Amino acid sequence: MEQIVDKDTYMIEAHGLTKTFKTYKKGKGLRGTIKTLFKREVVEIPAVKSVSFGIKRGEIIGYIGANGAGKSTTIKMMTGILTPSDGYVKVDGRIPYQMRQENAKHIGVVFGQKTQLWWDLPVGETFAILKEIYQVPDVFYASQMQYFDEIFELSEFMNQTVRTLSLGQRMRADLAASMLHNPKVLFLDEPTIGLDVMVKERIRKAIKDMNAKYGTTIVLTTHDMSDIEELCHRIIIIDKGELLYDGGIDKIRRDFGFERKIIFDLRYDDENEILEQLKGLGSLIEGSDANTLSYDLANNQLTVQFNRNHISISSIMNVILQRFNVLDFSVQDMDIEAIVKKF
Ligand SMILES: Nc1ncnc2c1ncn2[C@@H]1O[C@H](COP(=O)(O)OP(=O)(O)O)[C@@H](O)[C@H]1O
Ligand SMILES: [Mg+2]
Repeated sequence: MEQIVDKDTYMIEAHGLTKTFKTYKKGKGLRGTIKTLFKREVVEIPAVKSVSFGIKRGEIIGYIGANGAGKSTTIKMMTGILTPSDGYVKVDGRIPYQMRQENAKHIGVVFGQKTQLWWDLPVGETFAILKEIYQVPDVFYASQMQYFDEIFELSEFMNQTVRTLSLGQRMRADLAASMLHNPKVLFLDEPTIGLDVMVKERIRKAIKDMNAKYGTTIVLTTHDMSDIEELCHRIIIIDKGELLYDGGIDKIRRDFGFERKIIFDLRYDDENEILEQLKGLGSLIEGSDANTLSYDLANNQLTVQFNRNHISISSIMNVILQRFNVLDFSVQDMDIEAIVKKF
């Protein structure tokens, strides 16, 4: 994967970017509600705490963190939806929340959790309207629509209203809409959430294509490690609003990327007996030590986490299948929550 990064131009610059939400604590019951009419207790939620970073033209950045870490809030400030409480961010030389309209012409946004499209309009009409709003030239519009149809198979549902689309169709339409006017910067907030592998693949391909063809700068938040591994050279990790890591994916891959876990559904009556047996697990599996293997047992589920650089899946399967009554199992990638925890 080649990313053509313009080393001299910062497309996005965040300096001490901060957002604190103020909400009012609501008292319990009617008495509490009446009380809060007179004296409201302010609760401050520090969602983003003095975050600074620079993103160069043509970079694809993975902006990752656990749920509630502050990713969407950061994206909302970069797209002009929210104004920071402190610090600032510049996108393509503009302060987004001060020039929201102008900024919107140069960026594309997808929030995976919520469509940006008009709920009651057919998909086709939606694109016709966006063409007018963004003043997309006829020829470019035609070539974009042809490309989107190839990659997202839009014609399948062009005449349907947005509200009738499946999640996968809706996300394909949302992505196409965000890319239609060939924005310089794309903000994709969980664009693959809840989608099947095939749709995820199409979305990743579209992201790569845009970046390769036009040098589009892309900020991507995701819970899917495969999205990150396939698309990003660099990631920024935030945790509880604070920047935890900013750097290459290689270090993450080296330290955590080879982590896998297998989840076994076990049948047993006596948990203590199983725990006792598990104590000897390490000595039976080649290449295992405290760093390369760990396990967890709860509610008849045994989770074995291991580093596949050191331990083969088959050696684990052999040992577990021989010793325990296994009803089912699944192999999973290391998830982002676990990586953040390890930091
Ligand atoms: N409009 C809001 N009002 C109050 N609190 C908010 C609002 N939006 C987000 N938060 C809080 O800010 C924190 C960060 O949220 P968010 O940016 O959505 O996290 P993420 O996208 O990483 O899951 C969370 O604690 C969330 O509850
Ligand atoms: Mg979010």
